[in-house]
Amino acid sequence: MTHKLPLGRRTFLLSLAALSGMGAFAIADKLRYTNRSWGATDDPEKDFSGIGDASLRDRAAAKGLIYGAAFPHAALSSDSAFAAAFAQECAILVPESVLKWKALRPEPNRFDFAASDLMAEFAHNHGLLFRGHTLVWHRALPQWFEPTVNSRNAEKLLVDHIATVARRYAGKMHSWDVVNEAVHPKDGRSDGLRNSPWLQLLGPDYIDIAFRAAAEADPQALLVYNDYGLDYDTREEEARRTAVLKLLERLKSKGTPIHALGIQAHLLHSDKPFFNPAKLSSFLREVASLNLRILITEMDVTDKKLAVDVTLRDRLVATAYEDYLSVVLQEPAVIAVLTWGLSDRYTWLSQDRPRADKTPVRPLPLDAQLRRKLAWNAIARAFDQAPMR
Ligand code: G3I
Repeated sequence: MTHKLPLGRRTFLLSLAALSGMGAFAIADKLRYTNRSWGATDDPEKDFSGIGDASLRDRAAAKGLIYGAAFPHAALSSDSAFAAAFAQECAILVPESVLKWKALRPEPNRFDFAASDLMAEFAHNHGLLFRGHTLVWHRALPQWFEPTVNSRNAEKLLVDHIATVARRYAGKMHSWDVVNEAVHPKDGRSDGLRNSPWLQLLGPDYIDIAFRAAAEADPQALLVYNDYGLDYDTREEEARRTAVLKLLERLKSKGTPIHALGIQAHLLHSDKPFFNPAKLSSFLREVASLNLRILITEMDVTDKKLAVDVTLRDRLVATAYEDYLSVVLQEPAVIAVLTWGLSDRYTWLSQDRPRADKTPVRPLPLDAQLRRKLAWNAIARAFDQAPMR
């Protein structure tokens, strides 16, 4: 079944045919091509069924992998059913927002660890690994940042922040996203770096400074550079992959204590024309050749352009997960997969990428009632078929 074009578009094409004498086949092909360019066609042969009841956590662990998800602050003290589902399905927890500057730093000289301590305690009490996100980012900065920070005090502020936060959880962290989203070729720099407040204040070395401060504060944590837009065969994402590799090579050549690349993997539905397994595999191999491990850190699938029909939409979202994971899990350097949320009940996509028809988005493994979806099946099958680490 294919995604229908809006009625207006179909009418326009058909009337154009009548006028220009184009054959029905040419139109049909045009309609099919248009659909295919969105990747919004379903493969009825794909079967996501018959995989048993074992949790994603157990299936990943059986292959030496770690599966987990981002945990929303809103759910921690108010949604015991979600917390139970999380503890059942996940082996690692990353707080979605409470370890960011805006949550930790209400004032220049005051830290507020109440929420992040609760998250750390929840992880500990449920035997979950704990990962931190994020020590340095150009977003989620507190309001006092811009009027307060300048080129004279920026380095001390950055190092003190990292030292204070990373020391507090030292020994408890599986990994830290030390620097997040530092690359942005569209800003036009020859090094492909984002012209962020940190770069303007400290120059490109802010990245090395951050990693060294984190390594000193918590020598046990895996230190990760995390970024998005590295997945598809488009000009923009090729430029992003090139800039990330250039950054990683520069950091490694300086002896920066960086251990892994985090690939956020905010995926689109099965955009087959832009999904190029060979290019993605080659990028992963180049990262691994720098003696870096790889974490898939924020995986989800935007369904905003897909049909309203839930059955079809769930199949396309599941296809995107299965296509992507079947490629990345072949790379031995990939050690963990986290989805950016576990249930459609809590997803940033509801606010940031809502559907035009206002129906609820369905990007994650569990639905809003915490029931397993085809996306869950697809991830489970990918772990089951993954090579042992
Ligand atoms: O906690 C306050 C609450 O007190 C207040 O009432 C409310 C008013 O809107 O805001 C709440 O803070 C929100 C926070 O999430 C916690 O829910 C912020 O406004 C909101 O901007 C923030 O959005 C998060 C966003 O990062 C910015 O930090 C999203 O939930 C989160 O999913 C998103 O995650 C990012 C990753 O960190 C990096 N990669 C991309 C990803 C998606 O944008």
